[in-house]
Amino acid sequence: MGLFSNLPPEVSVYEVSARDGLQNEAVTVATTRKVRMIDALVDAGLSRIEISSFVSPKWVPQLADAEEVVRLMPRREGVTFSALCPNVRGLERAKASGIEEIGVFISGSETHNLKNVNKSTVDTLAVFSDVIGPAVEAGIKVRGYVSTVWGCPFEGEVDPKKSLAIAEQLLAEGCYQVSLGDTIGVGTPVQTRDIIELFLASVPPEAVALHLHDTRGTALANVLVGLEMGIRTFDAAVAGLGGCPYAPGAAGNLATEDLVYTLNGMGIETGIDLEKLWRAGQVAEAIIGRDLPGKVHRAGVRSLRS
Ligand code: HMG
Ligand code: MG
Repeated sequence: MGLFSNLPPEVSVYEVSARDGLQNEAVTVATTRKVRMIDALVDAGLSRIEISSFVSPKWVPQLADAEEVVRLMPRREGVTFSALCPNVRGLERAKASGIEEIGVFISGSETHNLKNVNKSTVDTLAVFSDVIGPAVEAGIKVRGYVSTVWGCPFEGEVDPKKSLAIAEQLLAEGCYQVSLGDTIGVGTPVQTRDIIELFLASVPPEAVALHLHDTRGTALANVLVGLEMGIRTFDAAVAGLGGCPYAPGAAGNLATEDLVYTLNGMGIETGIDLEKLWRAGQVAEAIIGRDLPGKVHRAGVRSLRS
């Protein structure tokens, strides 16, 4: 089979800037500004958007206003909002807010998990048993994240078989999809092929998403590997926002504009208007008040000659 013989007509982009991005900013962005940024993303055509986290405000003060963000976001047909949820307390908050989807999160490496949620992975999975099933019963969709699949900032190399075992448990408990995280952006294409091959031997491709931080500029290369192998959901953050406060050295997510630009060029539909997305990136930069790193964000959608 030739290169790019398995390209799909469309893929789904899962926008994480308002969560993964804002959790990692030194300054806390005002709620109304967050709402303005999310609104611009909806306007650009993003239909799956993570807008906050129901985590402890002591751990992530930047997202302490999760309820307010959910309350203030106008609902639009076909747009799903979600928020991270670490425990039963988070689920109660999610239910009270009326949000339609939550994301549970756990790491493939013990040390990152401990730093991130103060628990072993076994204890975290035990907590999730009281979150995933009850959420689904309450009509809330649940997505799972497995972090540090490509490598851990504390342990270095990580055995992907452990991430697979965790992912299988998350799916068995009721998650509709598991997003595999290259939390610190260390992944390279052959490694990505090996990880995806391992997962697809026991998990259907539609149940797998890729969440690639672009710390070393390899995220898009890894997306191409995923595309070829049948992955159809990719997480991204406008203008390349993103990072985990409990993973030192984790820089921005793959920039949504870079992903959409590349997919557009390959004839793959996302439902996203790239010009409007670029403008949403300008909104993000203005409300955050620092230069953001996305490549298309910085260069523009078109070349200067056109
Ligand atoms: P803990 O301190 O072990 O738990 O934290 P606790 O149960 O003892 O709670 C401590 C305090 O927080 C208590 O308050 C609780 O009531 C409160 P106090 O009695 O001291 O006043 N609390 C809560 N408050 C609001 N909502 C809640 C909640 N739970 C407890 N849900 C805990 C454990 C899990 C809560 C904490 O470690 C935490 O919130 N961690 C979140 C860390 C985080 O958000 N990390 C970033 C997201 S993950 C990521 O970025 C990776 C990802 O992008 C994928 C990738 O890139 O790989 C997803
Ligand atoms: Mg992340």
